[in-house]
Amino acid sequence: MLNLTIDGKKVQAEAGWTLLDTARQHHIEIPTLCYHEAVEPFGACRLCVVELRQGDNSRLVASCVYPAEEGLEVHTMSEKVKNVRRWILEMLLSECPASEAVREMAAEYGVDSTRFEVRNPEEECILCGLCVRACAQVVGANAISTVGRGAQKEIGSPYLIPGEACVACGTCVTVCPTGAMRARFDRVRGVPEVVMAKAGK
Ligand code: SF4
Ligand code: FES
Repeated sequence: MLNLTIDGKKVQAEAGWTLLDTARQHHIEIPTLCYHEAVEPFGACRLCVVELRQGDNSRLVASCVYPAEEGLEVHTMSEKVKNVRRWILEMLLSECPASEAVREMAAEYGVDSTRFEVRNPEEECILCGLCVRACAQVVGANAISTVGRGAQKEIGSPYLIPGEACVACGTCVTVCPTGAMRARFDRVRGVPEVVMAKAGK
């Protein structure tokens, strides 16, 4: 077992646990958006940021991908951590202002507006890739992809052609942290009438 402290509390972790695993095992809350226990963590949203301190030095790491190590001093709610989370939430409010989950989380941190440009007031997707990873790793269907680059990046079927790989299990909709996958499901699955017509039904 590894011995470390989180928010001043002595805790133990098993080798292979991340800091997020360790915190959750000890009922210490860390906010996440792109994390789901069923799939490999990816470190996309950075909301799970925590501060590691060693003497006068400190650094910020994403707790969902950072391994628990012997002797670490971890702070989950320091001023530094809260400031970074507020900044991330402001960014998310500009990127996906229509997501209730994001707005609620932002409100918890006192963030109710953003200084950054809002390109699409209807956008809900934070491009966290959780739907893509769940489809590949849990379902094994690989029916969902991140398509395009930069500002054009979006979630859809590979090459944006709705395909037969989708088994309509709804796992992507279940894991999506923002509710965005509901509106994207037909892009992956195809519009029901078109799918039925293709299947000759
Ligand atoms: S649709 Fe949902 S799960 Fe998929 S990338 Fe967007 S926010 Fe993440
Ligand atoms: S939950 Fe860790 S980076 Fe998103």
